Amino acid sequence: MRPLEGLAQFGALAGQSLRVLRATLRNPLEALPPEVYREPILPRRVLGREIVHVMAPELVHQALVTEAGRLDKGDSVRRPLGPALGEGLLTAEGAEWRWQRRALAPIFRPAQVQNFLPAMLEAARRGAARLLAVPPGQPVAMEQETMRATFDIIVETMLSGSANIDVERAAADIGAYLRLTRWATVASLLRAPDWVPYPGRRRGRRAVGYLRGRLMAQVAARRAEGTARGDLIDLLLGASDPETGQRMDDRQITDNLVTFLTAGHETTALGLAWTLDLLGRHPEIASRAAAEVDAVTGGGPVLPEHVARLDYLRQVFQEGMRLYPPVPILARRVVEPFTLGGVALREDTAIFIPIHAVHRHETLWEAPQLFDPGRFRPELVAARHRLAFMPFGAGPRLCIGGGFAMLEAVAILAVLLREIRFTSAGTPPAPRVDITLRPSAPLWMTVAPRG
Ligand code: HEM
Repeated sequence: MRPLEGLAQFGALAGQSLRVLRATLRNPLEALPPEVYREPILPRRVLGREIVHVMAPELVHQALVTEAGRLDKGDSVRRPLGPALGEGLLTAEGAEWRWQRRALAPIFRPAQVQNFLPAMLEAARRGAARLLAVPPGQPVAMEQETMRATFDIIVETMLSGSANIDVERAAADIGAYLRLTRWATVASLLRAPDWVPYPGRRRGRRAVGYLRGRLMAQVAARRAEGTARGDLIDLLLGASDPETGQRMDDRQITDNLVTFLTAGHETTALGLAWTLDLLGRHPEIASRAAAEVDAVTGGGPVLPEHVARLDYLRQVFQEGMRLYPPVPILARRVVEPFTLGGVALREDTAIFIPIHAVHRHETLWEAPQLFDPGRFRPELVAARHRLAFMPFGAGPRLCIGGGFAMLEAVAILAVLLREIRFTSAGTPPAPRVDITLRPSAPLWMTVAPRG
């Protein structure tokens, strides 16, 4: 029996539903109905299950902020990500999530994140040197370059650079794992029981085995060593629940390290790669951003104190993430009924917030497909609903690393644009969703010294 047919036994599969499933397996972005780009809210029944897409910022706010307590992440997050991330901050729910979030918050306070800037700039400079060593005219797959830079940064800042991880191998494993998650998404749409086999269930876990193994060994070594370095491992080793005094065991710590390593580098790297591709197609915008870097640095190297002053570059990255949000769809499940925009949401209704559609919504953006960083000028931002742009989500489950990501992205872009001219080749590849928004083919670009 083919895998889809095996899974299909658990849903009443008829024409439209089967089409949705096939599209979800091919690319969940294609499974989004076209109305999501113009309607405020879209209730549907798919596979006998109520599914509601929410796009209007006021309704997204109501769902994710005001009524956050009536939703959880449910199966559609646990199933694809649980095998890799276990019960780390991204996948945990309820009390387990709450105490982890409290315990981990200090490492992401703005003052602390600012301390990471020298390491971010160093990694950016290593990335620029790698690119400048490429023979002229030879195309590079930009998403691989940015993955390497952000992985470098996350290992340096969160693990004091000590993990001894083969970056290429870990990044390839994460990519392989994420590709397999589409099957888990379909299994959860069908509400197939946990024991039902589907491609990737075991292979997925094996794919991240190398990374988990290295991190587990690192945690054990640091526990034995007993010296503090003030990094994420120390924080996790020292974390305790203020109410119960509970501490994390090695497995929980490893779950969180894998979570931070994965969530913390892939997303930023994709946002950067798509932004560089856009810049490679809009040389006038790239020149203006490079001119800002020159003006702020006075022509010298980019220093930590320069980064906060690169306003236009920040707008460029925001516009890149508007068009290509690294996390393009959020999923929730109703655990307590309520009404949203006139739609009665019953228990177990699946809620999707297609960030990709919010960011390209016809009623929220003028010429939504156009790359125009000027949209993020402060006066225009102030005139829009705060959640018309929501790359980091909203409410209590808001990305804990948003400030970190913005800082490292602007730092990396500044160093790269100061030294390098980027050109994109051919038409841009279509984006594909494997939890994150990846290019369906490499983002080939050529680089040349800016001179
Ligand atoms: C441009 C880069 C990034 C984007 C677009 C992004 C996006 C997101 C989004 C949308 C969520 C919410 C998911 C949901 O509500 O279901 C999230 C959660 C999370 N992100 Fe990020 N993220 C980025 C960078 C980072 C970085 C750098 C880190 C860590 C260093 C990180 C760690 C996390 C964690 C741990 C969570 C779970 C938070 C919780 O549930 O309490 N992310 N991210």
